[in-house]
This record gives sequence, structure tokens and C-alpha cells, in this order.
Amino acid sequence: MTDTTEAQEKPASTPPRVLPYDLLGGDAAIRSLAAAFYKAMTELPEAQTIRAMHKEDLSEIEEKLYEYLSGWLGGPHHYLKKYGTVCLTTPHAPYPIGAAERDQWLLCMDKALNDIGASEEVKTMVKKPFFAIAEMMRNRD
Ligand code: HEM
Repeated sequence: MTDTTEAQEKPASTPPRVLPYDLLGGDAAIRSLAAAFYKAMTELPEAQTIRAMHKEDLSEIEEKLYEYLSGWLGGPHHYLKKYGTVCLTTPHAPYPIGAAERDQWLLCMDKALNDIGASEEVKTMVKKPFFAIAEMMRNRD
């Protein structure tokens, strides 16, 4: 008969959690990502429809994106703590966001990830979740 006592007493081993926040490089990297994102939005000709939805001064929205992405990528929940919610549907409701606008947003995020030197590993990890959250902002075809 096999003695399984020892195996049963051991806590189930779980692999260490790998967070995109850490893979990207922590707080400073998330700040750089938010800055690179709005720089891309300003510079990419393909993103001008969504750039036009934003104020000329992007400093406030850049800070908010940094606060949001920090928690969303697995780091400190600055946005939740400050605003008491992570729901982005209401703040996006005034803007007409369809598939084209969603894709412009994703293009800026792709460029920003490249510009901050994100690894292929972390880019693959966040690709589908970014698509999913951008798709959730869509409020028209
Ligand atoms: C899908 C296309 C999207 C478009 C066209 C878009 C556009 C906008 C616009 C025009 C604003 C208001 C800017 C302002 O107040 O000056 C905004 C706010 C914001 N967006 Fe987006 N957005 C999109 C997707 C996303 C996604 C996927 C995220 C997060 C992963 C995000 C994060 C935010 C945050 C954190 C705010 C600030 C909300 C607040 O006022 O507290 N956006 N967005």
C-alpha cells in the first residue's frame, strides 16, 4: 500500500504569479507606458480621430491612464483608491467609440509598448486583455 500521508499534508504547490506590472518594470515603466501612449496618439496620423476627442493638454489624462494601468496590470490600485471604481464605461460614454476608434487606441498601445522596450513575453501576455478592455469601451459599430 502506498503511503500518501506526506503528499496530502503538503500544501498544493502553485506556480509563482508573474504579473505584467513586474515584467514591464514596475511603477516607472507604467509611467513611461502612459507617456508613450499619448505621445503615440499625438504623433500617429492613423490615431487622429481619437486624438481629437482629447484635450490639447494631455497631462491629466496621462496621469489617470498611469493610475489605471498600474492596477490593471497587477500593481498598486491607484485609480481605484482615488476614484472608488475601475468602471470606465461612464467616462467613455460621451465619445463615439466604434471598431475604428478601438483599433486606433490599440495601435497607440502597441507603439507605446514597443517604444518602452517591452519584451515579447509581456506583449503577448497583454495583447488579448487589451483588446478585450478596448472592445468593452465600444459604444457603436
Ligand atoms: C477604445 C478606444 C478608446 C477611446 C477612443 C478612448 C478615449 C478616451 C477619452 C476621449 C477620454 C476622456 C479624455 C479626457 O477626459 O480628457 C478617455 C478617458 C479615459 N480612458 Fe479612454 N479611450 C479608449 C479606451 C480606453 C481603454 C482600453 C482604457 C484602459 C485600459 C482607457 C483608459 C481611460 C482612462 C483611465 C480615462 C480617464 C477616465 C476618468 O475620467 O476618470 N481608455 N478615454
